[in-house]
Amino acid sequence: MARDINTGRHLTLSATFPRMSAGFLSKAYQSVGAKNVMTLYDAWADSYDAELPQNGYATPARCARALAAVVSDKTRPVLDFGCGTGLSGQALRAARFNTIDGIDISADMLAQADTTNVYRSLTHIKPNAPLPFEQGAFDAIAAIGVIGVGAAPIGVFYDLMNALPTGGKLVFSFNDHTLADPVHEAAISEWVDMGAAMLTSKEHGPHLPKINMSSTVYVIEKA
Ligand SMILES: C[S@@+](CC[C@H](N)C(=O)[O-])C[C@H]1O[C@@H](n2cnc3c(N)ncnc32)[C@H](O)[C@@H]1O
Repeated sequence: MARDINTGRHLTLSATFPRMSAGFLSKAYQSVGAKNVMTLYDAWADSYDAELPQNGYATPARCARALAAVVSDKTRPVLDFGCGTGLSGQALRAARFNTIDGIDISADMLAQADTTNVYRSLTHIKPNAPLPFEQGAFDAIAAIGVIGVGAAPIGVFYDLMNALPTGGKLVFSFNDHTLADPVHEAAISEWVDMGAAMLTSKEHGPHLPKINMSSTVYVIEKA
């Protein structure tokens, strides 16, 4: 059962936000600021698992395969940061990771993730709050569809890199909207060019093929 890390209360679907019908994708890419992003995903929680697969959501499986290619011990805990409703956790499980912890800022997305039964734990965090685990606690972290336009700011990339131990791996994706803003790939270059990390793999491919959107999937290893 998912809990709010701040209050310890079990998470249930909130009635705080109006439920909107399908068609959140266009709204997502216009959503700016942590409060708006959280509101959007709370409202999207009920229909997300229908809308994304309908559009051929391919990035979770691509990320999970990319991470599985560089992590030999699949029993080690993997953090699914920005786990949403659990589509990313299910892809990680399909790639044979068997200890998956999920974190998200949306209580309603987490409540859906809880129904998937793929997570060891689910934790609700506030945007911009310090990460709720010790540095080095996870040597594999996934941020699938999480960083960029309509979701988490690029600062999250630095937070996750800082949280990894030496040799730890981060798999993440940038969609076309996110790639269009050079600040995102510049953050990767900053780590790699300084020798603080190595880019293990980078692959451009389908994200939401039904709406002609692609993404680049990266695996980066902390030096
Ligand atoms: C497009 S969804 C991706 C969800 C899931 N990873 C998937 O592949 O289906 C983006 C998720 O990131 C979460 N998110 C946005 N900003 C965040 C932040 N600053 N910290 C943690 N999660 C965040 C949202 O609540 C949402 O669940």
